[in-house]
Amino acid sequence: MQDDKIFELRSKSCSLDFVLRAGKFLFTHFGKTCSSAGDLAALMPDRHDGITSLRRPLQATYPAYGDIDFFEPNHPSRTMEAYGALGVVHADGVASTVLVAVDSAITEDAPGVRHLVLKMRDENYGFFVTQHFRTYDDCDVFETWIELTNDEAGAVAINKMDSFALEMNLMGRNATVFNLRGTWGAEAHISETTLAQSQTISLGSRSGIHGAWYNNPAFMVAYGNDSTETYGRVFGGALAWSGAWQASITRTSADALLIHSGVDNCSGPYILDSGKSITLPRFIFTYSDEGRGQISRNFHKWARLHCMPRGKELRPILLNSWEGAYFNFSEKTLTDMMDGVRDFGGEMFVIDDGWFGLGEFARNDDHRGLGDWVWNTDKLPHGPKYLADEAAKRGIRLGLWFEPEMANTNSELVKKHPDWVLSEPTRPLRKGRGTTQVVLDMCNPDVRDKIFRQIDELLTAVPGITYIKWDANSEIMNPGSPYLPKDRQCNLWFDYTSGYLELADRLAKKHPDVMFQACASGGGHAEFGSLSTYADEFWGSDDTDAHMRVFIQWGEMLFYPANSVACHVTASPNHQTRREIPLKYRFDVAMSGRLGFELHPGNMDAQDIPYVKECVETYKRIRPIVQQGDLYRLASPYDGDYASLMYVNEDKSKAVLFVYGIARGIYANYIPPIRLQGLDASRRYLIKELGVRNEHTHANTHSSSIGADALATVGLPVWIAAGYDSAVFELTAE
Ligand code: GLA
Repeated sequence: MQDDKIFELRSKSCSLDFVLRAGKFLFTHFGKTCSSAGDLAALMPDRHDGITSLRRPLQATYPAYGDIDFFEPNHPSRTMEAYGALGVVHADGVASTVLVAVDSAITEDAPGVRHLVLKMRDENYGFFVTQHFRTYDDCDVFETWIELTNDEAGAVAINKMDSFALEMNLMGRNATVFNLRGTWGAEAHISETTLAQSQTISLGSRSGIHGAWYNNPAFMVAYGNDSTETYGRVFGGALAWSGAWQASITRTSADALLIHSGVDNCSGPYILDSGKSITLPRFIFTYSDEGRGQISRNFHKWARLHCMPRGKELRPILLNSWEGAYFNFSEKTLTDMMDGVRDFGGEMFVIDDGWFGLGEFARNDDHRGLGDWVWNTDKLPHGPKYLADEAAKRGIRLGLWFEPEMANTNSELVKKHPDWVLSEPTRPLRKGRGTTQVVLDMCNPDVRDKIFRQIDELLTAVPGITYIKWDANSEIMNPGSPYLPKDRQCNLWFDYTSGYLELADRLAKKHPDVMFQACASGGGHAEFGSLSTYADEFWGSDDTDAHMRVFIQWGEMLFYPANSVACHVTASPNHQTRREIPLKYRFDVAMSGRLGFELHPGNMDAQDIPYVKECVETYKRIRPIVQQGDLYRLASPYDGDYASLMYVNEDKSKAVLFVYGIARGIYANYIPPIRLQGLDASRRYLIKELGVRNEHTHANTHSSSIGADALATVGLPVWIAAGYDSAVFELTAE
C-alpha cells in the first residue's frame, strides 16, 4: 500500500518486520531476514471478504483489550480471544483501549545496537504506551519493553499489562512448546507439549519470589515443523522478571501462533495514579531455523555480552560453607575451610547462613535473626575484617550470605518494625521456614533503605568481602502490604519485585567490584530479571545430587549460559537424596557449569585430595571454553541411559566434551558413538581424556588426532560402565 511506512528491525540474521498502516502497526514477518521488507508487506494476508477473515492483518505491537475492529468493525467472526496484552479501565470507567501510533524514532544506543521507540496513545484518553525494541548485530536477540503513562484526570485500573504480544502465521500446522517446570530440589525439568488447533498452554509462577519455580519464565516454541537440536523453526522467549509472571502460547483456530508474556498481578488490577508511569519488564526473544540448540546459543551469547554483569569474565572457583557446616561453625571451622579451598587451588570462600544476629536473635538455627544484618561477635569474635584478612592471607577472596528481603519474627528488626512485614490486618500472620520466617515489605522505601544501609555499611567497612550470595527462602504467603493504601493492595505483586530489583541494583551499583549470586531456595532465581539487574550467576539448585544435576543443569542451560549456573561438588552420600555417586562423576557434572564446592574439605578422604587438585587445575584450563564457549547438546538425558554435551570456543580451536552414564543397568555400555557438533569441519583435533581415575579410560582415541568431519559423521566411541560413570575429553585443533 502506498501510505505504508515500513519497519525492519534486524539482528544478525533475523528480523522483525512490520508496517504502519492507517495508524496501526501490522505484523509482516519475524524470522530469518528477507532481502526486501516491501515484499513482506506485499505478502501480508489482508483479505476481509468474510470467508478468509481469520487470515486478517495481525497487530505487530501492543494489542489492547477492546481494540479488535481496526479494519472490519462489524464482521461477526471477530472475537476478543486474540487480543489484550493491555487491559485498562480508564478514569471514567470505559474498559477498552484503542491505541493509535503517534511517533516513532530509531537510534543507535551503541555501535551495532539499534533501539526503536514506538509511541502510541489511546485515541480518546491521555493514556500513553511507549514500546521499545532493541536489537544487536552480534547475536540474534531482540529485547522489547513497555512504558505506560497515565495522563488522565484520575487513576486507571490496569487488569493486564503484558510485556510482549506477538501473533504470527504458523506457516504449518503444528506448534510444540518446550518449557521448564519444577520446584525445590527439582528445578528446570523440561516439558514438551504439542498444541492442538485452538489450544492454549499457560505458564506461570505466582510465588512472587521464586519466579523460576513451577515454570521458568523462559520457553521455546517450535512451529511449522518438528524440531530437534539442529533442525526446525524455533522461537525462544524469556521474561526478564523475578516475581509473579504468566505466559500463554496459543495455536489459534486459523493456525496462527499467539505468544503473550508479562507480569501477573494475581488477583486484581494494578492501579496507576494520574501523572504516573511504570516500566514493565523486558521480554527477550530470538529465532532460529536450525533447531533448539541455536536458540540456547543465542540466549547465552546475548546474556554474556549484553545482560549479565561481568558476562565476559571467568567466574572464580569457590567453596560455599552451607553443606559443609550448616549453622555449626566457629572462626576455626571457617579458616579450616579456607585452608581446604586454598589447597584445592580454589579462589574464593563464601560464608553461608549463620554469621549474623546477636543475643537471643543469633542465627544459630533457622528460627531467628533474619533482618538483623549485624555480625555475631559471640560466634565469630574477631569480626568480618579478620576473616577477610585470613582469606587474603591465603590468596583467596571472601563472600557472604544475605537474605535481604526476609526477616524472622524473632529479630530485632521485626520487634521494632512489625509494620515492615507483608501481612493483612484481619488475618493471622502466616510464617514460613523455621516457623518464624516472614517477608519484608519491599514496596516500602524505608524498608529498602534500612536493608541497603546495613549491607552497604558492612561492604564499605570490609572491602575484602567481594561476593554476596543473595538468598530468598519464602514465597509471598501474606498478600498484604502495610505500606500500600487499601485500594492499591493488588499493586503488591509488581511493586514487591520492583522493590527487590531496585534494592539489588542500588547495592550492585554502589559496590561495582562485588559479585552477586541470586539464590531463592536453590534455583528460584534462575531468570534474566536478576541476571540483567545485578546477579553474575544463580545457584542452580539445593539439590546437589550429581544425577539430579545432570537434568537440572540441562534444563537451566536451555536458556542461561554456563557461567551463570553455579554447580558445586558436595559430599557422598548426597545430603538431599542420600545417593552415593563417585567423586569423578560429581566433578564431571559440576565442571560443565561454574565449578565450586559445598563440603568441609576436612571431611574428605585424604586419598582423594590429589585427584581434587588435579580436577581444579583441569577446570582452570578448560574454564574459558566452558564459561565462554558455545554449548552443543549431543544426547539428552531424557532420551536414554546417557547424556552428552560439549562446548566449543569462539574460533573453534578448542572444545570440551562431557559424557554421563545415567542408568544403573548394563545398557549404559551400549551407547552409540557420540557425534560431535560445532567443530571446524576442515580441521583435525587432538583428543585427550581428562580426569582419568585409576587408569580407567573411556575411549581408545586418547591422544589421537581425528578429523572433525569423521567426529561429526561417525562419532567418538565412548565406553561408559554401569552405574555412575562419566568421561570428559578435551579437543584441541591442530
Ligand atoms: C537456602 C539456600 C541454600 C542455603 C540455605 C541457608 O536453602 O538455597 O543454599 O544458603 O538457604 O539457609
